[in-house]
Amino acid sequence: MSPYIIRQKFELSKKDRQSLKKHASFLIWFTGLSGSGKSTLANAVEVRLHELGVHTYPLDGDNIRDGINKNLKFSPEDRDENIRRVAEISKLFVDAGLVVLGSFISPFAKSREEIKEIVGAENFVEVFLNTSLEECERRDVKGLYKKARNGEIPSFTGISSPYEAPENPDVVIKTEELTVDEAADKVMAYISTKLALNE
Ligand code: ADX
Repeated sequence: MSPYIIRQKFELSKKDRQSLKKHASFLIWFTGLSGSGKSTLANAVEVRLHELGVHTYPLDGDNIRDGINKNLKFSPEDRDENIRRVAEISKLFVDAGLVVLGSFISPFAKSREEIKEIVGAENFVEVFLNTSLEECERRDVKGLYKKARNGEIPSFTGISSPYEAPENPDVVIKTEELTVDEAADKVMAYISTKLALNE
């Protein structure tokens, strides 16, 4: 960063914005293989939060890569940059008073640690979609696993690029054992106390 950048201070704080919304703001991060159910679960949790009057915003791998991160591919460096930018965006949205739902494969443990550093550990909830590769491949919702197996898609997570499972996630969801509703219940139970504003 240039030494000639001097951060501007604004009168209103995150706390002021949260108090208008009457709830806390933080980032719920869904990580797991492609097809593990991240976006489906984030969607179900967002609907529940909305019904409770909580202000939310979803950030999703495919959507973000179709816009602000259009210039990034799937090399380890580009994946790290993808996640770094999303962490910075999340930080802004959390500052704005929103509960952010981020759904990204985010295959590297170091990169997920960086998100925590950027948004602050107290603002970060890690949800691990622990769905086996076999199941993701069986579902193959987008037909990408088939293409990856055929060699049409290089560096595909789980096939030709690694996924480092979180060692100590806040919530683990085994989608092979739970319905979407049950999984959403589990996330909601974990975040319910975090939603309250500490005056
Ligand atoms: S991440 O690794 O950088 O976190 P991200 O979540 O943004 O990935 O994007 C993953 C989505 O991109 C997948 O759901 C899939 O639809 C698509 N995709 C395209 N190519 C790949 C690839 N090589 N590996 C994984 N996902 C890919």
